[in-house]
Amino acid sequence: MSSDEKRILTGDRPTGKLHLGHYVGSLQNRIDLQDEYDTFIIIADVQALTTNFDNPSKIRKDVKQVALDYLAAGIDPDKATIFVQSLVPEIAELTIFYSMLVTMNQLERNPTIKAEADQYDYKDMTYGFIGYPVSQAADITFCRANLVPVGEDQLPHIEQTRKIVRKFNNLYGEVFPVPEPKISDFPRLMGLDGKAKMSKSLNNAIFLADSEEEVKSKVMTAVTDPGRIRATDPGNPDICTVFHYHDAFNTEEVDEVETNCRQGTIGCVDCKGKLAKKINKFLDPMRERREKYLDKPELIREILLSGTEKAKSEGEETMKKVREVMKIDYFKGKSI
Ligand code: TRP
Ligand code: SF4
Repeated sequence: MSSDEKRILTGDRPTGKLHLGHYVGSLQNRIDLQDEYDTFIIIADVQALTTNFDNPSKIRKDVKQVALDYLAAGIDPDKATIFVQSLVPEIAELTIFYSMLVTMNQLERNPTIKAEADQYDYKDMTYGFIGYPVSQAADITFCRANLVPVGEDQLPHIEQTRKIVRKFNNLYGEVFPVPEPKISDFPRLMGLDGKAKMSKSLNNAIFLADSEEEVKSKVMTAVTDPGRIRATDPGNPDICTVFHYHDAFNTEEVDEVETNCRQGTIGCVDCKGKLAKKINKFLDPMRERREKYLDKPELIREILLSGTEKAKSEGEETMKKVREVMKIDYFKGKSI
């Protein structure tokens, strides 16, 4: 791997199965870019603790689940380095140094933190929770990443990372590239219920691990144009969840679906049938890969262990530079 190859870092909290929203929002980008970039993918178990510190055994189970979802989705372990955050202590170390470069005002203004605090009804946020963007800055930079493919809700965190990096480089010396975010062309997938976001907690998601039957029955429950009673009524695809999914997963037929819907020449049940078929076809290769890995659980273990090893050695190299430029490499050289 040439050292001038640009690097990606991105990842997820291990808090349950990945769904189609994760795929279009971020996984797709990672899979496309893994050939071109030296890719690091973090399973952010420490960040998952910010909202699950009272239930760490749940995170333990989800670390494996997320790794399996990545591999099934098409992240290639020969191209990308998948690793576990808590097993790279250099990230925690870097977080402490960064915490000096961030103000309470910046943390309190972060719109994603605010939205999540509302969602969890946190009135008095823990230090770990309000500070996780600092830890995320360390996630991104411990391997000196250039590009961060993420969903749009992560933009405030990338902005915070960029601020920290600029401040660090100015104060101490140029160690880190200022990372750029990369947002997918299809940034947000609606839920089956028509809510703005597909989300496990809203119970409106199609998971990458769903069976053919599950996909079919979930698509049948999806919200359509409520004004349409009969199959011959002209419909409005703009307000239909099913159409939104055709747009994301059925580029071949999306125009035809739109025309037929507007003219009232296709029924919603047929239209959903087409979509379910298409989504199943899309998930089939993932199902195959999932089976392969499920047959060999030791393979996932090996992938995570060797990925974590590689991440750790990157972290060690970075921390050496950090200590040097901060002049806290006390025992290198003659005097303390
Ligand atoms: N905050 C991200 C999420 O909730 C997960 C994450 C942790 C992440 N560390 C990261 C994403 C570093 C990109 C880069 O999904
Ligand atoms: Fe939606 Fe298809 Fe029904 Fe039109 S025909 S309202 S696009 S499900």
